[in-house]
Amino acid sequence: MDFACRDVVSIRDFGKEEILYILDHAGKAMPVARGERRSDVLEGKILATLFFEPSTRTRLSFETAMLRLGGSVIGFADASGTSVAKGETLADTIRMAESYADAIVLRHPMEGAAKLAADFSTKPVINAGDGAGQHPTQTLLDLFTIKMEKGEIADNNIVLVGDLKYGRTVHSLTYALSLFGANITCVAPPTLQMPSEIVSHLKQMGGRFNQSESLESVIPGADVLYVTRIQKERFPDPEEYRKVENAYRIDNALLANAKRNLVVMHPLPRVNEIAPEVDLGPYARYFRQAFYGVPIRMAILSLILGKGEI
Ligand code: NCD
Repeated sequence: MDFACRDVVSIRDFGKEEILYILDHAGKAMPVARGERRSDVLEGKILATLFFEPSTRTRLSFETAMLRLGGSVIGFADASGTSVAKGETLADTIRMAESYADAIVLRHPMEGAAKLAADFSTKPVINAGDGAGQHPTQTLLDLFTIKMEKGEIADNNIVLVGDLKYGRTVHSLTYALSLFGANITCVAPPTLQMPSEIVSHLKQMGGRFNQSESLESVIPGADVLYVTRIQKERFPDPEEYRKVENAYRIDNALLANAKRNLVVMHPLPRVNEIAPEVDLGPYARYFRQAFYGVPIRMAILSLILGKGEI
């Protein structure tokens, strides 16, 4: 399996065996991710993190991953302090970053931005979210979470709830789950349902798909509840956002009929969609899920930039 110098633009760039290999590699990286063991496999390598949209976990976990492997990080968390504010094109910014760094992590509001950057860069480009498009490394950490917390990825009833139209995490996740034969139930307001091309792909791959507006009715059968934020910044009309902003809220009362071993996930940040009381209960895994971003990003960076060892 050869990952050297590869771009990570879409989760569809990877086959099932490759995904399982990355997850396995992340499992081995856990002691280094926790800071219990040192590694210098990326010593001398530089990662550029170019964030044109807000980020907490994705940017910081990429930086942590790089630093824990002995590498260094350059970049920006806000493009307003860069030459982008002077009118520089994305293509030129990428040309500069690739001449300074060994790999580029890019988050951008425009769907397709990572593909464009990869076309302009001879160095590997990792998509950290392109508008409402894809978020492949989030999906790898989501799959890692499911594997760690449930033992297996296949054969789980996975309920995706919230903004399935604009949410890039659920787009990438659904593509990936279609490789694993999972059963997916999408719960969203009618205006925020999963794009039809992704649903068609899932069905074509033999995945089971259901759609519902009622969270109450699907909770008892769920093994994984994947909650998402309504993506306020993607709505062309603020009035449309207002109509759906509080569409779903997960609280202990709602979870009263859940399976004993239900796992509640969220890519974070959450706004109002999960009540804080759920954090203390037996189902919450979202903070652990966010930590798993470190071993997963260590695995990706070491495979792309190094010899694959950690
Ligand atoms: C997500 C994103 O940016 O798409 N956040 C993340 O990377 N963990 C989800 C979101 O912003 O709602």
